[in-house]
Amino acid sequence: MNLMRLRQSSHLRDLCAETSFSAAHLIQPIFVVEGLTAPEPIAGLGDNARLGLRDAVETVKRDIEAGVRHFLVFPVPAGKRADGSSPHAARAAEAIKRAAGTAAHVWVDLCLCSSTETGHCALFDGRGVIDLEGTLAALSAMAVSIAGAGGDGISPSDMMDGRTARIRAALDGAGHERVPIMSYSTKFASQMYGPFREAAGSAPQFGDRRQYQIDVRARTDAIASSRRCAEEGADLLMVKPGITSLDLIAPIREATGRLTGAYQVSGEYAGFVLLAERGLTSFDAALLETWHVFRRAGASYVITYGARHARRIGLPA
Ligand code: PBG
Ligand code: ZN
Repeated sequence: MNLMRLRQSSHLRDLCAETSFSAAHLIQPIFVVEGLTAPEPIAGLGDNARLGLRDAVETVKRDIEAGVRHFLVFPVPAGKRADGSSPHAARAAEAIKRAAGTAAHVWVDLCLCSSTETGHCALFDGRGVIDLEGTLAALSAMAVSIAGAGGDGISPSDMMDGRTARIRAALDGAGHERVPIMSYSTKFASQMYGPFREAAGSAPQFGDRRQYQIDVRARTDAIASSRRCAEEGADLLMVKPGITSLDLIAPIREATGRLTGAYQVSGEYAGFVLLAERGLTSFDAALLETWHVFRRAGASYVITYGARHARRIGLPA
């Protein structure tokens, strides 16, 4: 048996392909910054920029024309507050949903780090210890306001223990039983979030996020975290960063029976943007390669800054 025999033509390669992907499986992040009047580029993220409300609405309309069917909104408020509250998240959700109409599903990232003075995803008590109860209350209230403003789905990225149950209960209590939760269920403390933190103004002002994000060495914790989210009512699970969590996608799906996606995070994506700028890779082909690999590893969906390029690259709707 010569293994090269079936690789020699595109027809044979297509016959042997076991993964396929369509634009409907991709989610496009979008940064909606309060008070911004002109787009601000984000280092490393190519055509992804920090956008004011009006530019964000235009971008969403253009992306829908280009085939995007899911957005993940990152609301970035203008000022910081001690309690992390921000009316901007609901306003951003409302504007983007109005622009998308029924043409796309609008997920909204739920976290406190772009609105707290500390840049952390949690609130702290007077002794500098995470105030879990206060954080969960703040997250739940924000989730209800986002759903009330028309957000189609809530995506908690904070990693506070127990947040999925609290958010689910709060949503149900406010009559939002139909709003799904896509939890960042296995999210590692990673060096690959740099471009994002610049875009979202969410870099921690002291320490790091290791108290609440998962240690890359902790496989059991990584699976337990997703299992916890599933038990607490997460509709969709996620690993993040995608490339460095490939080995966990299938085990999580098996352990939970839930669909599990991968987040191709800002640092991963920036790698391709910067390589392409230096003429060292073909951007489109490299993107497509990684999406297929996520699918081969068992990912049901992919969050990627390149979702708007999917149809142009040749993926079906
Ligand atoms: C914050 C958040 C982060 C990302 C999504 N939500 C970064 C962090 O934990 O600091 C990362 C996304 C990316 O890098 O593309 N809750
Ligand atoms: Zn956060």
